[in-house]
Amino acid sequence: MKAVRINEFGGLDVLRWEEAPDPVPRPHQVLIRVDSAGVNFADIMRRSGNYPGPDLPSSLGLEAAGTVVEVGAEVSGIEVGQRVMVMGPGGQAEYVAVNGNFVFPYPETMDPVQAGGMPVVFLTSYHLLKTRGHMRPGDTVLVQAGASGVGTVAIQLAKAWGAKVITTASTQEKLDLARSLGADVTINYTTDDFEEAVQSETAGRGVELVLECVGGPVLEKSVRCIASYGRLISYGNASGASASLPASDITSDNRTVIGFSMGRSPVGSLDHKAAMAELLPMIAGGKVKLIVDQVLPMSEVAKAHSHLAGRGTKGKVILTP
Ligand SMILES: NC(=O)c1ccc[n+]([C@@H]2O[C@H](COP(=O)([O-])OP(=O)(O)OC[C@H]3O[C@@H](n4cnc5c(N)ncnc54)[C@H](OP(=O)(O)O)[C@@H]3O)[C@@H](O)[C@H]2O)c1
Repeated sequence: MKAVRINEFGGLDVLRWEEAPDPVPRPHQVLIRVDSAGVNFADIMRRSGNYPGPDLPSSLGLEAAGTVVEVGAEVSGIEVGQRVMVMGPGGQAEYVAVNGNFVFPYPETMDPVQAGGMPVVFLTSYHLLKTRGHMRPGDTVLVQAGASGVGTVAIQLAKAWGAKVITTASTQEKLDLARSLGADVTINYTTDDFEEAVQSETAGRGVELVLECVGGPVLEKSVRCIASYGRLISYGNASGASASLPASDITSDNRTVIGFSMGRSPVGSLDHKAAMAELLPMIAGGKVKLIVDQVLPMSEVAKAHSHLAGRGTKGKVILTP
């Protein structure tokens, strides 16, 4: 089979669409023939050597959708021929074997190309808002980088679950998209002071929950947007910049700063099956949708990386074999 692979860490030129060994599913795994696979910011970090993964050469991708062709002896509830979305390393390939706990059958009515871009952004957003963020109806949520893959889903879920959403992005086009997804307040954080805007929107109280993935000065200012007894979840560092968080910004207002990494959560700590059971009816019923920036062939994976790294995308880029 062919797969998107890297044989060394580096720039766009290390990306290959090349022959790779056919995956052989282990007893706890399911083998799927891939229809589509999402591209995530983490793929760029992985390519550059800044994200954990198997020894090189290794296939890229953290998610996919396709048809089940083989089910390991220890896996129950999954059948050959089922259409599924999956989370696990190596999804950007013609075939992938993944842990049966990360295989989610999806309704026939859903689009098989879009399905490959859903697991990471939907499950991340779910766990940020619910599992780690404990969001309640009536809360105000600040979603940084609202036009990102995760941001576009987090905005819709927060609105569906009864929050007021304030969001940021770097261009008017991105802010227009966020607004169309239900965001109540949109701020261009490259030209306007979002901390000031948040304080004025909340009458100086701040927000109950901040979802923060940009890092650097955006993280520093985001902490000062948290209401008393509110929470900030740091779940990424897309800018690559470092931040300094004075204790006084956290202590004096009884603020909580939380870290979240779905991939590095202890085994069994996140109930993905329960999350998907709640999310899939919302997706199939049209209550929330995936925003697809573009669909590219896997052979053009370098274009996808360049587009993401250049902050060009709105929503997800999806690859097809
Ligand atoms: N912890 C977890 O489990 C988890 C899971 C999934 C994703 N993540 C993280 O969540 C973030 C979003 O992921 P994604 O896959 O949705 O990525 P994405 O669509 O590429 O979005 C990244 C966003 O970051 C913003 N950004 C700010 N400075 C940037 C820079 N220097 N270079 C590139 N982007 C920059 C951009 O928005 P503007 O142009 O509007 O600023 C961009 O839309 C990433 O930091 C990723 O690592 C974490």
